[in-house]
Amino acid sequence: MAGDVTLAAVLAFSGAARRICRALGDPLARLIDFRGDPYPFYEAIRDRGTLVHSRLGPYLTASHELCSAVLRDARFGVIPSSELPPVDLGLSGDGPHRIVDPVDESFLKLDPPEHTRLRRMVSSSFTPHALRSRSEAITAIVTEFLDRVDGRGGFDLMRDFAARVPIKVICGLLGASDTRHEQMAEWGTTLAAAVDGVRSVRQVRHLRATLAELNDFLGLVIDAHRGQPADDVVGALMAQPELSREDLLATSGLLLTAGFETTVNLIGNGVLALLDNPEARQRLIDDPDAAPAVVEEILRFDPPAQYTGRLALEPVELAGKTIATGQYVVLLTAAANRDPAVFADPHRFDIDRVNAADHLSFAAGIHYCLGAGLARMEGAIALRALFTRFPDLRLAGPVVRRPSRAIRGVLRMPVQAAVSANTAA
Ligand code: HEM
Repeated sequence: MAGDVTLAAVLAFSGAARRICRALGDPLARLIDFRGDPYPFYEAIRDRGTLVHSRLGPYLTASHELCSAVLRDARFGVIPSSELPPVDLGLSGDGPHRIVDPVDESFLKLDPPEHTRLRRMVSSSFTPHALRSRSEAITAIVTEFLDRVDGRGGFDLMRDFAARVPIKVICGLLGASDTRHEQMAEWGTTLAAAVDGVRSVRQVRHLRATLAELNDFLGLVIDAHRGQPADDVVGALMAQPELSREDLLATSGLLLTAGFETTVNLIGNGVLALLDNPEARQRLIDDPDAAPAVVEEILRFDPPAQYTGRLALEPVELAGKTIATGQYVVLLTAAANRDPAVFADPHRFDIDRVNAADHLSFAAGIHYCLGAGLARMEGAIALRALFTRFPDLRLAGPVVRRPSRAIRGVLRMPVQAAVSANTAA
């Protein structure tokens, strides 16, 4: 296909430019190709200054003050990743079967007034009152998956638990009865890796196929709701006659994908942090009500979403530099969470930290994560139940990390646990 040949050329060119910049020590080029522990790397960026320029165009910041200010500043907007260099995925086109990218075409990537209009249509499902009513259902889902692994001795924490719970929770919230969890877990991994930008034509083809499957799935959920008013998110969306097919697919797709991939990694990163910090883990076992504080510190210490970005909509003075219209600022929120100007002894995992909730792991401003309350609740219920049931949980093999940087998490985590009192009794 001619389009794919052009794409291959564009990717080869941008890859070469990135490799040259990386060899010259460029911070953004290094971030894009980074593997391994990102936290020392963020410190190296912090050491270079508050606002660091990349030869690739954008600025980067690890400063909490600056990240927070940009996220709340109406002179900055969002931009679909497909409009960022280097590629357009080639999904555009007309007609009723056009594939919609739920991340790029949703309100996550829209500025006001469109953002405000679409976000408002689903906000009522995420109020504290709406969430409280879901707590029992979440506890039942967590118990179901713990029961399934209890007595097995060994299991994969990610595949058998951390990925299962959020997928079932978000499907319930949306009103999707067919949860296809394995396929969804794969979609999540593919979409999360694409947030870093695509590298090869093969990856683009895989991404297109994933988005087509996701569209088919959402189309079935939407069709199942036709003429059947339902008390769930898709039901609420379909009660808005002005929403187009694209709006419906993008909004429900955003909630589905944002709703599980990040929460999966909150649970996984949380388990790793607790296995690495036996004192904190013991505190959680002795006092399960400490779970919300534990979750807050996990979010600060090792967040699933490591960075985001904003585009200047007009010239903006920032940290003594002028950001030109159209220039992009990469906001290293995971680095901001370890800014010593805000957090004492920032590299220490400390569940007693009084200002842990000042982290930027759910961003800030108008795009502040709509599912933050749900994620906090799911994380607390899941970790509390897991360590109460398996206080002796331990690693039983090598941990395999996800092939993504903007979304940080674990793909495989073999663990071992003694049979719990529940099963033994
Ligand atoms: C630990 C879990 C989660 C993390 C770390 C997380 C993180 C984030 C971040 C950083 C943003 C803002 C991105 C930006 O402005 O560039 C965001 C937005 C969003 N998140 Fe989450 N999220 C989590 C869970 C969830 C859940 C469970 C849902 C829904 C069920 C959800 C739905 C959304 C939506 C709809 C937006 C777009 C908000 C807007 O643009 O107004 N997230 N999330």
